[in-house]
Parts: sequence; structure tokens; C-alpha cells
Amino acid sequence: MTSLLQPYSFGSETFITPWTDPVLPSPLLSLVADGVTEGYEWVGDFPTCWRERPFLDEGEGLFVAWAQEQDGGIPLGMACLSADPHVADPDTGRLRYIYLHPNGRRRGLAERLLQACLARAQPRWRRLRLHTVNPLAARLYERYGFLPITGEAQATHALDLGRR
Ligand SMILES: CC(C)(COP(=O)(O)OP(=O)(O)OC[C@H]1O[C@@H](n2cnc3c(N)ncnc32)[C@H](O)[C@@H]1OP(=O)(O)O)[C@@H](O)C(=O)NCCC(=O)NCCS
Repeated sequence: MTSLLQPYSFGSETFITPWTDPVLPSPLLSLVADGVTEGYEWVGDFPTCWRERPFLDEGEGLFVAWAQEQDGGIPLGMACLSADPHVADPDTGRLRYIYLHPNGRRRGLAERLLQACLARAQPRWRRLRLHTVNPLAARLYERYGFLPITGEAQATHALDLGRR
């Protein structure tokens, strides 16, 4: 697998797509491997988690941010939405595995991925939860209405979607 960690240049064209195939493409696995190399070990759990149960039920999804290349796209980042496995409430969803490659950061891609997740989440979940220790990420989530929560090991933020 080729590492993407070396800086590379790409045009300004980027796009976000849902990934719905239970089989993950090898460039996305490279992205995940780079995340682990960078020190984000949690993103390394994603391929196994997806293989066990792809996030393809109603209100779930994997969204990928791509750099447009002549022969397709190179993944720059990803974001997932699923039922929250840490709570029994069937109306609580979870944002997870949000990772942007260093080459793709500060271009608004995490925000676009978040918007895609929120649009998917809105009709299905009453509440969304997530866990982050990254203040940059927390600032982004709080801009979209997530509120910090305390006293829970598995979540730092929650958003009430006011549905159901
Ligand atoms: C946190 C993380 C997801 C943010 O991704 P990102 O794509 O860089 O986020 P965005 O570009 O949407 O926003 C980040 C900042 O860049 C700014 N930005 C957006 N477009 C920009 C542009 N064209 N030029 C300069 N800055 C820009 C945003 O305003 C935002 O600024 P702020 O932090 O001052 O509010 C990414 O750094 C990451 O993956 N980090 C490691 C893993 C991690 O912590 N994931 C979160 C786990 S929940």
C-alpha cells in the first residue's frame, strides 16, 4: 500500500461522496494507515468495524472527501455516522472515524463531511453523540450546535436533533 503521508499537490477540485460498498477501496485503507502512522490509533479500528457491520442502515453512512484527479479521486478524509454502539437508545446516532489527512486539512473538508453526516442524520436520529479530544474538532462540532457533555467515557459532545 502506498503511503499518502508525503506531501503531494493536487488541484483545488474536491468532492464528497458516500461509500456504500461493503468492500473498502485500497486508497481508503492507505488513508487509514496514514492516520495510524500519524498517531490516531482509533482510526485503525475502522476497517474491522466496517467489515463486521458496514454502516449502511437508515441514518448511517461513510462519507469520503476526495481530491479530483484525472483518473478518479484520491481520498483526503472520511467521516462515519452509525447507530451509537455505546447506548441502548435506538434513536441515538454517533459520528465517528472523522479523519482528514494532513494534506487535506484546513480546506473546509471536515465541515463538508460533517454537513453530509448531519443531512443523513436529521430524519433518523433524535440525538447524535461523538467523542473527541481534539480542540480543533470540538470547535467545529460546537459551531454546528453540539454541546459538551461531561461524565461519560464514550462521548464528549451531543447534539439534540429534536426529532422523533
Ligand atoms: C480536526 C479535523 C477533522 C479538521 O479537519 P479540517 O478539514 O482541517 O477542518 P476544516 O477545514 O473544515 O476546518 C478547520 C479550520 O480550517 C479553517 N478553514 C477552512 N477552510 C479554510 C481555507 N480554505 N483556508 C484556511 N483555513 C480554512 C476553518 O475555518 C477551521 O478553522 P477554525 O478551526 O479556526 O474554526 C482534522 O484536523 C483531523 O482529522 N485531525 C486529526 C484527527 C481528529 O482529531 N479527528 C477528529 C476526531 S472526532
